[in-house]
Amino acid sequence: MSDYNRRDFLKSSAALAAFSGASVAGALLPVSLAQAQGVAAKIRVGLMLPYTGTYTQLGVAIENGFRLALAERGGKFAGRELEFFKVDDESDPPKAAENANKLVQRDKAEVIIGTVHSGVAMGIAKVVRESGTLWINPNAGADDVTGALCAPNIFRTSFSNWQTTHALGKVMKAKGHKTAVFITWKYAAGEQMMVGFKEGFEKEGGKLVKELYLPFPQVEFQALLTEIANIKPDAVVAFFAGGGAAKFLKDYQAAGLKGKIPLYGSGFLTDGVLDAVGDAAEGVETTLHYADGLNTKKDNAFRLAYVKAYKLQPDVYAVQGYDAGQLLAAGLEAVKGDMNNKAGLIKAMESAKIDSPRGQWTLSKSHNPVQDMYLRRVVGKENKVVNVAWKALADPARGCKA
Ligand code: BEZ
Repeated sequence: MSDYNRRDFLKSSAALAAFSGASVAGALLPVSLAQAQGVAAKIRVGLMLPYTGTYTQLGVAIENGFRLALAERGGKFAGRELEFFKVDDESDPPKAAENANKLVQRDKAEVIIGTVHSGVAMGIAKVVRESGTLWINPNAGADDVTGALCAPNIFRTSFSNWQTTHALGKVMKAKGHKTAVFITWKYAAGEQMMVGFKEGFEKEGGKLVKELYLPFPQVEFQALLTEIANIKPDAVVAFFAGGGAAKFLKDYQAAGLKGKIPLYGSGFLTDGVLDAVGDAAEGVETTLHYADGLNTKKDNAFRLAYVKAYKLQPDVYAVQGYDAGQLLAAGLEAVKGDMNNKAGLIKAMESAKIDSPRGQWTLSKSHNPVQDMYLRRVVGKENKVVNVAWKALADPARGCKA
């Protein structure tokens, strides 16, 4: 971050801490002072995630992953316990600012972990840019969050939307596809993944011949599938996730398109849904920053621990939540648990090397992961890694003044 941005941020958050500290006993006092006064100095963590609606499972996996990182550290980050405050954001952008304000103002959250939906993330960004609250975004890919809206207190442990589809251009060109149709929900995530794909594909000489949209979270795909059958592109690229992705995969097969027009996507299309879709996803290829079968020491240990704790297989969302915990832990360890040492906390988080189940990653200047993008293929119930489609892919961070 530039000195100018950093100075401004530290000034505003110091003022905020001084103001709030007067009215909220203990929670916002420096740890040493709080401890001297016998105040139980738990760090106040706001979880803003979808616990209802089409992205419910994604929110649950993120929380599970975060709690696993905490459990692995004996229930404390840098010697401090956490107190959780939860808000169900319902993946509803118009309610996002109000929900984020509940955590910041009512619950006095010192850090927000959330969310899944890009539109909701834009509401959180507005609130934390005003309040100076530390925010770790464990999924929502809205490009602007680490683009034009980047700020010292905003971090992401997942991806930018652009990142998740950019490598597909090279992959599909290598397979000889010259034309493609992109189909998705009409909101920031789908639109930005479309742009990431288009830039990558057209740079390779391919042509995106049609963009097809339906409103989020609708799943009436039939008319659009008929349109695809009429266009007859070489390939189709899709972004859907959660329950919507499962329905799309089944409908694509039922419409007779599977096996006729190869289907690709950002990996959300097939992550966390394979148990629900029978063989409808078999052979579908996607790009993402996580895959099954990485077979590294870190990933194997993570998977074992996750299954033991939750009796569920982890997915990309669980990894991103886990890494949100790892990033916060790295920052807090550097400042010995003192949340009020914002400059030290941010500096340590910015330079953290995260030993993730996905592979090691670092943060760009705009606080977005620089990470390998895997090509994966669905084989049975797994998104099997095929190869690294793009080594250390960084988001262009358009508009970020960091
Ligand atoms: C998003 O809205 O940014 C998003 C939601 C689900 C999966 C991936 C991205």
